[in-house]
Amino acid sequence: MITSLGINTVDPTVIDLVRDTERTDDDLVLSVIGCGYLGAVHAASMAALGHTVVGVDVDQSKITALGQARPPLYEPRLADLLADGLGSGRLRFAGDPAAVRRATVHFLCVGTPQQPGGVAADLRHLDAAVTALLPYLKSGDLVVGKSTVPVGTAARLRARIQAVEPAAELAWNPEFLREGHAVADTLAPDRLVYGVPGGPTGTAAADLLNRIYAKAVADGTPVIITDYATAELTKAAANAFLATKISFINAMADLCDATGGDVVQLADALGHDRRIGRQFLGAGLGFGGGCLPKDIRAFLARAEELGAGSSLGFLREVDAINLHRRARLVELALDACGGLPAGRRIAVLGAAFKPGSDDIRDSPALDVAERLASFGADVVITDPRAVDRVAETRPQLRVTRSLDEAVRGAELILLLTEWPEYVALNPVALSKVVDRAVIIDGRNALDPARWRAAGWSYRGLGRAGS
Ligand code: UDX
Repeated sequence: MITSLGINTVDPTVIDLVRDTERTDDDLVLSVIGCGYLGAVHAASMAALGHTVVGVDVDQSKITALGQARPPLYEPRLADLLADGLGSGRLRFAGDPAAVRRATVHFLCVGTPQQPGGVAADLRHLDAAVTALLPYLKSGDLVVGKSTVPVGTAARLRARIQAVEPAAELAWNPEFLREGHAVADTLAPDRLVYGVPGGPTGTAAADLLNRIYAKAVADGTPVIITDYATAELTKAAANAFLATKISFINAMADLCDATGGDVVQLADALGHDRRIGRQFLGAGLGFGGGCLPKDIRAFLARAEELGAGSSLGFLREVDAINLHRRARLVELALDACGGLPAGRRIAVLGAAFKPGSDDIRDSPALDVAERLASFGADVVITDPRAVDRVAETRPQLRVTRSLDEAVRGAELILLLTEWPEYVALNPVALSKVVDRAVIIDGRNALDPARWRAAGWSYRGLGRAGS
């Protein structure tokens, strides 16, 4: 094996890592440190691939819930995968970091949120995870970073790890998973990116990752083996590109409103160009969630630290265009209330940051609902999955699980998260239960002609010409 890697001198570090790659799959014991959304999905998916996995988290309530197959956020297939893994004995969760002792590969999956009061990434959880892992690291262990981090973090963490265990190695293997598709994105990713150091231990680390992801690799998933900086930048750049695409089409929406154009038709026409593609050209209320907003800000902050801020200055504009969508929708809603929102019954359909999720982190829908409520409007929010989270975190807002209750007697309907059940609403039937048939389609998800034919006053964002 050593010869096949082209190594002539016997380096004990390499032997340990290479030996590990020679084991059978049954021998692979993985730890996943941080069992929030990313970690829970990763741990359950790795167990589904046949590996033995221990998930560790400092939050005992998370550990207890996961041990009962209850995911931290709604995610299709995750509860089943957790139950299968726990049932098979291949998956377990623990609050004590010592539980990682038997594992030889350790995935770092903790969150890297926006710094309180700042825009850069807060790496406290990541550093704490490494600190917790260090006493248990053994010669030949591989640490694999999956969290989204500022470029330069992997090199810094490798130095920390090797100061304690010189014969352990670090790889950076960013995740690209989307909420609502996280299990599929983990088991069958579009690509695998391994940031590894040069030399034999880096090669052995990439071989080991190929073994862990053997199914995806065998299915032809492209594998990009690169340096740390490129791996870290790939994740930041992917999110920056997606955010830019959304803000670009939203800027076009404003142009459509100013000129009588229709942004949905424009996006269709652009999307047929294979170099552009239709995905992420959904104009409307813009992006939210736990990733895109904070990741573009952290990317810009890091570029500024590196003296390259001017190259990413456009991301400030991407962020501003995005936030302006919310203000624009509030403006349209106030307009629809004749400028007098106090006491007006407004039904808000959707609270999650996107359909298919119960995540309300930086949700554009909730932001709009809160602003209108602060103007004294009588706002009632409904959502197929996120109502409990809204009730827990925003007790001042009125929520209901019942769509019927939300819309009955409403003077204005706001469609803010395009759940399929809202998109499928029958405008004729709905017009019979509301007080005024006025709708603002914040996601451009409805057919304006159909709604107008049913007697509705319809407004989209960038659909002046529809
Ligand atoms: C995103 C990235 O897609 C994923 O690769 C990364 O790992 C994490 O961040 P996610 O946050 O789950 O995933 O959501 P995504 O599907 O990207 O949507 C982000 C936001 O953009 C949502 O608020 C969505 O409503 C909005 N969006 C998306 C649009 O406004 N228009 C679009 O065309 C697409």
